[in-house]
Amino acid sequence: MRRVAWMTDLHLNFLPPEKASAYFDQLNQSQADLILIGGDISEAPRLILDLSDLAARVRKPVYFVLGNQDYYRSSIAGVRAQVTQLCSRLPNLTYLSVIEGVELSPGTALVGHDGWGDATLGDFEDAIKMRDERLIEELAACDRNSLADLLRRLGREAAEHIHRVLSYALQYYDNVCLLTHVPPFKEACWFEGAWADERHLPRFACGSVGTVIQDLMSMYPRKQLTVLCGHTHSPGYAQILPNVHVWTGGVDVGLPKIQRMFWVP
Ligand SMILES: [Fe+2]
Ligand SMILES: [Fe+2]
Repeated sequence: MRRVAWMTDLHLNFLPPEKASAYFDQLNQSQADLILIGGDISEAPRLILDLSDLAARVRKPVYFVLGNQDYYRSSIAGVRAQVTQLCSRLPNLTYLSVIEGVELSPGTALVGHDGWGDATLGDFEDAIKMRDERLIEELAACDRNSLADLLRRLGREAAEHIHRVLSYALQYYDNVCLLTHVPPFKEACWFEGAWADERHLPRFACGSVGTVIQDLMSMYPRKQLTVLCGHTHSPGYAQILPNVHVWTGGVDVGLPKIQRMFWVP
């Protein structure tokens, strides 16, 4: 049995580096055998420093995806390249968006991808604006129409990755854990105690990944999928199919915490 600690939306950029280090030391002393982090770890100018410090202080395997805010003040392509290179040097740090998946136990696999609020759910014409458009290079270069195209492309990219890795995992494992940043379903898109409305859904949910999950899990009714996500900062649980369970993390920015501990048999 392995004990897993799941966290999301740490937003370490709101903490002085020494407080982040103290938090990592505390995490190292926790009961967890391995750590999952669901994105919005920091912001790009500090992300590599924070991940390096995390890997040095938490002497356990850490599996993570990135969130939209990890790309702030830089580009998606640049941050992904830097993070991939960092993980190639640090053996206890794994970025799930660029690998096929991991065996957590003989019966359980872990897969993941960042996901993206992909403008496929809700009303994009009337959608909220986000700081992403100012602070992420690829999005800042878009007008309103090309922004919708880019968001949908980012969602499709996540969905293609999830389709590939989840299809494979379901052939060999009875249980799969899927770590992502953006809730893949409206029903998992908790926002201030209720589901996000039509104006928030385009930026708060990744419908393309949700479609892949529903299609695949319908084909494997005896297998179980647990989805762990964040992004909306509001906690909740949703059962999408009898075999699909989705947990969304609740966050107080500046106070990183473990969302859930669970055993992998
Ligand atoms: Fe966040
Ligand atoms: Fe986010």
